[in-house]
Amino acid sequence: MIENAGTFSLGGRTVKRLGYGAMQLAGPGAFGPSRDKASALATLREALAAGVNHIDTSDYYGPQVVNQLIREALAPYPEDLLIVTKVGARRGTAGEWFPACQPDELVQAVEGNLRNLGLDALDVVNFRVMFSPQGPAQGSIAAPLEALAELQRRGLVRHIGLSNVTAEQVWEGREIVEIACVQNHYNLVHRVDDPLIDVLAKDGIAYVPFFPLGGFNPLQSATLTRVATDLGATPLQVALAWLLQRSPNILLIPGTSSVAHLHENLAIAALDLPDDAVAALDGISSVQSSGMEHDT
Ligand SMILES: NC(=O)c1ccc[n+]([C@@H]2O[C@H](COP(=O)([O-])OP(=O)(O)OC[C@H]3O[C@@H](n4cnc5c(N)ncnc54)[C@H](OP(=O)(O)O)[C@@H]3O)[C@@H](O)[C@H]2O)c1
Repeated sequence: MIENAGTFSLGGRTVKRLGYGAMQLAGPGAFGPSRDKASALATLREALAAGVNHIDTSDYYGPQVVNQLIREALAPYPEDLLIVTKVGARRGTAGEWFPACQPDELVQAVEGNLRNLGLDALDVVNFRVMFSPQGPAQGSIAAPLEALAELQRRGLVRHIGLSNVTAEQVWEGREIVEIACVQNHYNLVHRVDDPLIDVLAKDGIAYVPFFPLGGFNPLQSATLTRVATDLGATPLQVALAWLLQRSPNILLIPGTSSVAHLHENLAIAALDLPDDAVAALDGISSVQSSGMEHDT
């Protein structure tokens, strides 16, 4: 029962804290057609059958591939399903990632998401900042956010979030429009956002870590493996459970193209981490930064 992992408010809805990230359903590197379309459709349907009501996607996964799979598998959508998408990037012909944050590009991206998902309005649109390939980088996000706020006034977008942002950009954004959520790189070994998560939690704003399992290079750590063995769980289950206990505003969107992995990930609703396990796991990122333990 994934309800056991709790709920949080996002986009005017109450969503379960265990959601699903759909990026892995495109081809390698989130580019091109699915490696196994039947399995991709089955994974989406199984997610909903298991109770997931929060799916993360973007029209730039594929591009278009993932949204079209979501539509084929799930439309007409259940009332309680929240689909969160992203704009701000576009793909080159070889899968490269380029910024696409001019007002006309944002309009096209919103229209593309609407068309491929088969919706009249998008529940939540994250503006994905592309200032640097290395991660969040300073710079004003006022112009693109104002363009998205205009699409919100036109009724095409219900709620706006931010992705790959600095804390300063979150504050700048909140002056322009109500920010529904922040989606940044964060996991057991990548904890730059610890202070931001705590501030957002106080303000009731959802924080949705991307790469919760380490992304294209799933997390590896001797401590994680030891804790998992003690608990009779897998290391990646423990990594997700650690995120759940980290803060009540953290919503999980682990990505998988496999029904078996989906079920493993959702099973963490029943996994309690004892205090000594949390303490050991908390130590991983500090050990890693001193170079004493090799985690990725
Ligand atoms: N805002 C952004 O810039 C941004 C960037 C990246 C991702 N995202 C979003 O965040 C979501 C999550 O990130 P992600 O999918 O990139 O990375 P992730 O969830 O950290 O990890 C996905 C990887 O873990 C594997 N995996 C998943 N469950 C597993 C399990 N139980 N056992 C073993 N391996 C498992 C997947 O392979 P299998 O397919 O074989 O299971 C895949 O290789 C994405 O789906 C996307 O919606 C957003």
